[in-house]
Amino acid sequence: MENDIVLKTEDLTKHYGGVQALEGANFELKKGEHVAIMGDNGAGKSTFVRQITGVEQRTRGTVWLYGENVAFGGPLDAREAGIETVFQTLALADDLDVPDNLFLGREKTRLDWLGPFRLLDYKAMRRATIEGLEKTAVKIPNIRNTIRNMSGGQRQCVAIARTATFHSRLTIMDEPTAALGVQETAQVENIIRTLKEQGEPLILISHNMRQVFDLVDRIVVFRRGRICANLDIKNGDITGEDVVAYITGAKTQPEYQEAA
Ligand SMILES: Nc1ncnc2c1ncn2[C@@H]1O[C@H](COP(=O)(O)OP(=O)(O)OP(=O)(O)O)[C@@H](O)[C@H]1O
Ligand SMILES: [Mg+2]
Repeated sequence: MENDIVLKTEDLTKHYGGVQALEGANFELKKGEHVAIMGDNGAGKSTFVRQITGVEQRTRGTVWLYGENVAFGGPLDAREAGIETVFQTLALADDLDVPDNLFLGREKTRLDWLGPFRLLDYKAMRRATIEGLEKTAVKIPNIRNTIRNMSGGQRQCVAIARTATFHSRLTIMDEPTAALGVQETAQVENIIRTLKEQGEPLILISHNMRQVFDLVDRIVVFRRGRICANLDIKNGDITGEDVVAYITGAKTQPEYQEAA
């Protein structure tokens, strides 16, 4: 496989009983590329993310991460392999505070020579947490509060702060700004731009046409569980109306016709 491919899926498929939520998805993401996935509610976008990140076990298909055939047992395995995901239904630990959520599985320690008795470096973790949250502009009165008591937008910002704090080999955001105010949305878009500048690849799921055209290189459209278009939007030939036509099924790209 070409070694500039970050993520590749072949025939990725998920059925829930009789529901064909995802059918034969062939997808590729190149190094440094930012791709949006668009499609109506129920089109299979989140299902696609859940199969890649091991939240669920796929019905069939293959996933490669940087050329390595991967099948994660769960989202923490995917995270360990370098995939940082902001899930649509947020995967935060309700009973932990903000720093503990940010550093879950990545705890900073000090006095490492103490071996198993080494100490968690709470001060460093708190400092990094505050810096990460500043990037999202969200106001969280007390980061020592548990996630359970936070608003939807505050939770979303905690999850996003995590992606802004650690370098990852692939970032996936499933509707990251759906619950955010104007200011917070703008900040999150800045985080995404920073990832782009740093050459970190991203998959962004979004219903927001303006946001997608502002941020990404390419749009992949899902419809009824299948990919129906792969649109390079960098040269300006594709309009928002074109994308809507693919989303609603008024148009299908010839190469996807047979599947549709
Ligand atoms: N656990 C499940 N059991 C049965 N059906 C499911 C399950 N999860 C999702 N589905 C179905 O699979 C289809 C795809 O759902 P999915 O969540 O991937 O949609 P989506 O494209 O992310 O939509 P949205 O834009 O609303 O988030 C839907 O028809 C949904 O009802
Ligand atoms: Mg979804």
